[in-house]
Amino acid sequence: VDARLQAISAAIRVVPHFPKPGIMFNDISTLLLRPKAFRDAVQFFVDRYRDMGISAVAGIEARGFIFGSSIALAIGAKFVPLQKPRKLPCEVFSETYELEYGRDSLEMHVGSVHPEDRVLIVDDVIATGGTLCAAMKLIEKTGAEVVECACLIGLPKFKGRYRLNGKPVYILVECRR
Ligand code: PRP
Ligand code: MG
Repeated sequence: VDARLQAISAAIRVVPHFPKPGIMFNDISTLLLRPKAFRDAVQFFVDRYRDMGISAVAGIEARGFIFGSSIALAIGAKFVPLQKPRKLPCEVFSETYELEYGRDSLEMHVGSVHPEDRVLIVDDVIATGGTLCAAMKLIEKTGAEVVECACLIGLPKFKGRYRLNGKPVYILVECRR
């Protein structure tokens, strides 16, 4: 395994029983404290996407903003925030999705993505895939193409990959716990 990937993996802190009993939380804030590991993580995505004709990077609030905006700047794409409800001030598209307990929504400003855009969706973690699925639906409302989804961390036991209707997901590190 690549030593850089090992360092990235080691810099992610796993916190048991957060935010709820039984949940193992993958905390990327400790990765952000290590400039080399943070930069390497962004660079893996930049190397993959720089020549794929991506015109827009859509980042999911809030940790998807950190990685998504870094990637967007480096590949020369626009950055589009997908936000939790009632955060965006103008007209929005909205998509509701199921969580383990209850439901949540994501919103995107109308007019931020156009039919000719080629979009990369970025988040920190994929578990069940529900969040990415909602993000994909938001982008597809505009007629734009979702090229791929990208996450730092995959939790394979939740099989989220298989919920995305065949859309590819690029995962930097798989978490086996
Ligand atoms: C976490 C994580 C992903 C999502 C992945 O966010 O940041 O967005 O879960 O889970 P899924 O694949 O099952 O949808 P969470 O909903 O906990 O909220 P937060 O990002 O606001 O902390
Ligand atoms: Mg999230």
